[in-house]
Amino acid sequence: MSIERTEEETVAYTVEDGIAWVSFNRPEKRNAMSPRLNRQMGRVLDELEFRDDVGVLVLTGEGVAWSAGMDLKEYFRDTEAEGLKGTRKAQRESYGWWRRLRWYQKPTIAMVNGWCFGGGYGPLFACDLAFAADEAQFGLSEINWGILPGGGATKVAVELLPFRKAMYHAMMGENVDGKTAAEWGLVNEAVPLADLKARVTEVAKVLLAKNPVALKATKDAVRRVGGMTYDEAEDYLIRAQEAANSYDSEGRKEGIKQFIDDKTYKPGLGAYDKSKQR
Ligand code: COA
Repeated sequence: MSIERTEEETVAYTVEDGIAWVSFNRPEKRNAMSPRLNRQMGRVLDELEFRDDVGVLVLTGEGVAWSAGMDLKEYFRDTEAEGLKGTRKAQRESYGWWRRLRWYQKPTIAMVNGWCFGGGYGPLFACDLAFAADEAQFGLSEINWGILPGGGATKVAVELLPFRKAMYHAMMGENVDGKTAAEWGLVNEAVPLADLKARVTEVAKVLLAKNPVALKATKDAVRRVGGMTYDEAEDYLIRAQEAANSYDSEGRKEGIKQFIDDKTYKPGLGAYDKSKQR
């Protein structure tokens, strides 16, 4: 189908009640990531990251796909025709926004509504949490068209899956549905497509009630400590909390006060009321 979309139209977003709903918006191309989409996604992430009315970012796809991975024509064939310079530029533009998303200021959730292939594993892993429709389909399809799962996709498989499953998934080019993706650990949970947005909204609301400085420190810590020894991690976590205190030195004191003095909540059962924080 040939739909003429401006670069700006390749990504859609709305902000409602603290949640930024960001969509891959090339449904007629199954939301394949073209250089134009990659550039626009970078701009949208910039626009939303420090807005006061955004507490959580959800990344989803318009139509029947989350993302069919890299655009085989516009990302691979057209940029290769420009030589190494074109290829490297396209890589910078895509890897660049995935990296930004991995370290995003706000908590992020992948809401995988449909097809998720190859290069799509980059942003999938970049999101802190991931929820899929039972009906979604996940695949490392690269082997089916003759390349290795690049753009980080092999790394994502190895980070998230046990060795045998990662190897099978990468070598066989077979898809798994959302339910299997959840059993394997590619996503946190799978629910019927009809319930997906409600479940993601529920999770986002829980995150919105937490201390945002602590959330950013926590999500970074989970990503960072994986490559560290125990002693390095112990030290990193001390420094990271002390750095977080420089942005918000009152949050944890209020959390302790509401539990110990006011007895208005129990940290084991939920979050303190941050609206009472001075
Ligand atoms: N790159 C470029 N174009 C793509 C694309 C991709 N990754 N995925 C889909 N499209 C295009 C198709 O070429 C088609 O374009 P056209 O209407 O101009 O002919 C359009 O999107 C619709 O795709 P179609 O294959 O007809 O949809 P479908 O619903 O029958 O099948 C998929 C959906 C996702 C199974 C199928 O499109 C597919 O296999 N895509 C490639 C997935 C892939 O290997 N991605 C890995 C890249 S690293």
